[in-house]
Amino acid sequence: MISYPIYDFNEERPVSQERELRIYVDGKVLPRSDARVSVFDASFQSGDAVWEGLRLYDGVVFRLDEHLDRLWRSAKALEIAIPLSRSALSDAVYATLQANGFRDGAHIRLMVTRGERRTSGMNPQNVGGRATVVIIPELKPVPETPPGIRLRTVGIRRPEPDVLDPGIHSANQLNSILAKLEANRAGVDGALMLDRAGFVAETDSSNIFIVRDGVIATPWSTACLHGITRRATIELARANGRDVWERDVSLFDVYSADEVFTTGTVQELMPVVEIDGRVIGPGTLGPVTAELLSAYRELVRSGRERVHATRA
Ligand SMILES: Cc1ncc(COP(=O)(O)O)c(C=O)c1O
Repeated sequence: MISYPIYDFNEERPVSQERELRIYVDGKVLPRSDARVSVFDASFQSGDAVWEGLRLYDGVVFRLDEHLDRLWRSAKALEIAIPLSRSALSDAVYATLQANGFRDGAHIRLMVTRGERRTSGMNPQNVGGRATVVIIPELKPVPETPPGIRLRTVGIRRPEPDVLDPGIHSANQLNSILAKLEANRAGVDGALMLDRAGFVAETDSSNIFIVRDGVIATPWSTACLHGITRRATIELARANGRDVWERDVSLFDVYSADEVFTTGTVQELMPVVEIDGRVIGPGTLGPVTAELLSAYRELVRSGRERVHATRA
């Protein structure tokens, strides 16, 4: 058991998005304009990389340990050797945040690519050296009151484990991008994606929950990411004495729900106010979503998340 370093961010420095970001690339923290990877990088050429999206609250990255677990699992599935220990990688995340003077409201994209290829070509054996580590922190505070989003069911389906296991959090986001193109064309905020059987999987970038008669349901994780906010939400709802079911969720279920909300590190819990032109429940932040959002916000700032168990 070790504790992650909690940096003292008291050394207040003026921070704004205009100031050039400092980005970590393979051991160096560089100004954004100097932060580069090779055009032979496997991620640039093929999306051959794993990544995590993290969020900083009061100087602490929420559930960094769970994110590192998922990163290591994804890397293992793709046979990418992460070139740092868990504690060295967490130190690198905090050092990059410190270099930017960030103590709150930052979202961090942590990437590990297979590395630079000797020659172009998809074969992982074309990579001779070590994996590339990139850490990009940006200020993306969440709005105090979530605005609510409108979704559209799109034609493109989420792949299942027989095609591409959604448990692998890979940098290849083309499936999501195709979905987002459809949503953008429809003029809505996001895409509602179905699995092969036509049940709801998740959105293009977040997990989804429905509430009916106070009972909460979320799709099985066969065709969606095992979201860390999803898991925290299930724990919080159960701790509040609510029933939570992982089950098949149909379009009928979402259209007729009292409330629908999404979960993800970037947007926390976000009410869905309209799906395919149908107003959902009250068409605004519903009471169960509000209850869970408030519990989530308490959790992320509670300090209970400050000490993390880790493996060397
Ligand atoms: C496809 C997809 N679903 C769901 C999520 C939400 O996961 P988490 O709560 O771990 O941020 C993400 C986040 O990256 C995602 O990419």
